[in-house]
Amino acid sequence: MPTAADFKPAPVLTKRIPEDRSKRATVSYEHYVATGGYRTLEKALSMQPSEVVELVKGAVLRGRGGAGFPAGLKWSFLPPADGGPRYLAINCDEAEPGTFKDRLLVDFDPHLVLEGIAIAAYACQMQVAYFFIRGEYHHQAKVFQKAIDEAYANGVFGKQGLLRGASKHAVEVVLHRSAGAYICGEETALLEAVEGKRGWPRVKPPFPAVKGLFGRPTIINNVETLAAVVPILENGVDWWKRLGVESTIGGMPSHGTKLMGVSGHVNRPNVYELELGIPLRMLVEKHCGGMRNGKRFKAAIAGGVSMGILGTDQYDAPMDFDIGRKYDVLGLGTACPTVFDEDTDMVAVARNISRFFKNESCGQCTPCREGSGWLLKLLTRIERGAGTTQDLDVLLEVAGSMGLTPGTTICGLADGNNWAIRTIVNKFRPEFEKRVSPRFVPVYVSAAGR
Ligand SMILES: Cc1cc2nc3c(=O)[nH]c(=O)nc-3n(C[C@H](O)[C@H](O)[C@H](O)COP(=O)(O)O)c2cc1C
Ligand code: SF4
Repeated sequence: MPTAADFKPAPVLTKRIPEDRSKRATVSYEHYVATGGYRTLEKALSMQPSEVVELVKGAVLRGRGGAGFPAGLKWSFLPPADGGPRYLAINCDEAEPGTFKDRLLVDFDPHLVLEGIAIAAYACQMQVAYFFIRGEYHHQAKVFQKAIDEAYANGVFGKQGLLRGASKHAVEVVLHRSAGAYICGEETALLEAVEGKRGWPRVKPPFPAVKGLFGRPTIINNVETLAAVVPILENGVDWWKRLGVESTIGGMPSHGTKLMGVSGHVNRPNVYELELGIPLRMLVEKHCGGMRNGKRFKAAIAGGVSMGILGTDQYDAPMDFDIGRKYDVLGLGTACPTVFDEDTDMVAVARNISRFFKNESCGQCTPCREGSGWLLKLLTRIERGAGTTQDLDVLLEVAGSMGLTPGTTICGLADGNNWAIRTIVNKFRPEFEKRVSPRFVPVYVSAAGR
């Protein structure tokens, strides 16, 4: 069992970011350079692009956007350069409820993100980087555009080649503001949106590494993933591998630190950077100051609502990439848990989540478009005390039939709906049964109306 000492705060990506974030203080270009910034890019440019890819591959840097796919491996899927354009798309959509970690980096240390972008664009020989940012992130968009302008003014990007011509490879960075739909965070919907179309996910294959933006090879990475490339290159793979934990079930390791944005019924909600593998209980009790008002822990969304729920007996679940297979959730997701105390009505939680997914379904696939509507109808009925035991079975059947895993949809939004609802019902079934029992007094519906 790990002790608290094993999981000290580990500021790697947040080393320039103050613990007290009540006042915004963006790291300027000058401050960034004075504290060692852009030296890792210089180091990367002294290597062959393929060597950089191999190094990131060796670090097993798992994507921080939700799926945990290793970045270096993804980069290695690019076809050999053919002289035509190749693109990098940086995913800062961050519209997953409960997730608010990427904006911390963008807000406070945008040049770290830009340095990661420059290294990735060099390693994969991509000429244009599209920074796709959530529509509602007005302030962060302004901050990031200012940092892009600073980087251009100082020759990091632009026609002369990376880092004032240290490499002949030139990279342009374009900030693209999303119109504000959750689905645009799905990587192929993001590509459609950048192309100026409606954010509808594409059928895969072909995968974006082969045919992405404007039909050309494209890599999509999350903001935090790209920021993590900088310390990996700076300090080496062995250093990175000493952080985090190995898999205990024969899977891929969970190396490095992770930004964990904690919200809900805790005393100190915030973004904490900690080594992967920290048990949820330790994250809450030690770093977030415990449960609010001395209440007991009841449940937590694993890492974005799409991942499903950790039950009361799963408080000790380690926050690493094994969590999906070990604790019956979809995965670690963004590692941003929303914590619920003992007074939380889990039926209301399920209905609220289902409302979100119904509103955000893009409508292309029938099981997602129709199923999300049915889940909301059933849950609303159950919450009001007008449901039946049969409704619970139908609920589980409808939820279980939606998504990439059952093979019925184009994208993973439906899997998120499926896992969120199924895990809440399965792990808190007595609450739902009580609600559908004839003895339950309806909240909004008269007894005659049942
Ligand atoms: C509905 C939906 C929304 C998503 N939203 C985001 C998002 O806001 N940010 C993000 O990085 N990844 C998001 N993803 C995951 C992306 O599709 C993709 O896996 C990720 O950007 C790849 O980056 P990474 O490999 O660095 O994690 C979303 C996926 C789905 C299905
Ligand atoms: S699963 Fe849902 S969100 Fe994804 S493409 Fe199909 S309808 Fe759209």
